[in-house]
Amino acid sequence: MALHVRRSGAREQGSRGAVVLIHGFPFDGSMWAPQLTALPPGWRGLAPDLRGFGRSDLDGGSDPGTGAADGAPVDDGSAAGVAGPAEAVLTMEGLADDVAALIERESVAPAVVCGLSMGGYVALALWRRRPELVRALVLADTRAEADTAEGRANRKRMAETARTSGSEAIARAMVPTLLSASTLESRRHVADQVAAMIQGTRPETLVAALEGMARRSDSTGLLGTVDVPALVVAGEADGLTPPAVARSLAEGLPRARLVVLPDAGHVSNLEQPAAFNEALRAFLDEL
Ligand code: MLT
Repeated sequence: MALHVRRSGAREQGSRGAVVLIHGFPFDGSMWAPQLTALPPGWRGLAPDLRGFGRSDLDGGSDPGTGAADGAPVDDGSAAGVAGPAEAVLTMEGLADDVAALIERESVAPAVVCGLSMGGYVALALWRRRPELVRALVLADTRAEADTAEGRANRKRMAETARTSGSEAIARAMVPTLLSASTLESRRHVADQVAAMIQGTRPETLVAALEGMARRSDSTGLLGTVDVPALVVAGEADGLTPPAVARSLAEGLPRARLVVLPDAGHVSNLEQPAAFNEALRAFLDEL
């Protein structure tokens, strides 16, 4: 499985290290364009399309010779009830294994790993499985807790919408909840970009990732083991992972700093790219 990857910085320019940017749900690596172009000198950026998203296949089948790792989607017909018996599942662990393979293939270990929302779940799963690949963590608009029963019920409804009405219906439902009021009013290009990423995500990927997120384990007990520097970023107007959630995430991490970005919702890196980049740059400068 070779993920489609967007990059910045030539291999020989990565003298200070590499930042791997993991997108949220249901986006793709293009959401990190404002960060890829603004990394400080000496840093390489790698922004994969996670399995099933953007230009990466759901089954990894088109890339000969790599075989199916244990990151392959599984069809065990079970449990949380979001995916049906014949549908694939994208677990956070499987997505993390794909990111681990990318870090190893690119010879950039240990890398700074930055994940937004679902990307944060994947980053924490990577820490759980392969901490030696992680030099520092950036966790944006995300949480350590597993889904509540209500959260899982919402995912089930969303999966049904994806199956019956497709990705456009998901985009219509999600965009107003993802972005701050000020983004919706005055930064329409961001709303359009977010809507386009969602519309471009195949319904089977939506269902597979919804099931994977519904099944994800609670990571709050893991936070105390994160002995590398961490930056927690939160959009002040993030209604999905509000600043209070970010604060408790930062408090659980032994070496974390919290930055709250005004006028940003859940996609804070796109809604306030300059402020996000400033926080990221300051963090990288201290590593
Ligand atoms: C995301 O932006 O990745 C999602 O909000 C994550 C989730 O649905 O839990």
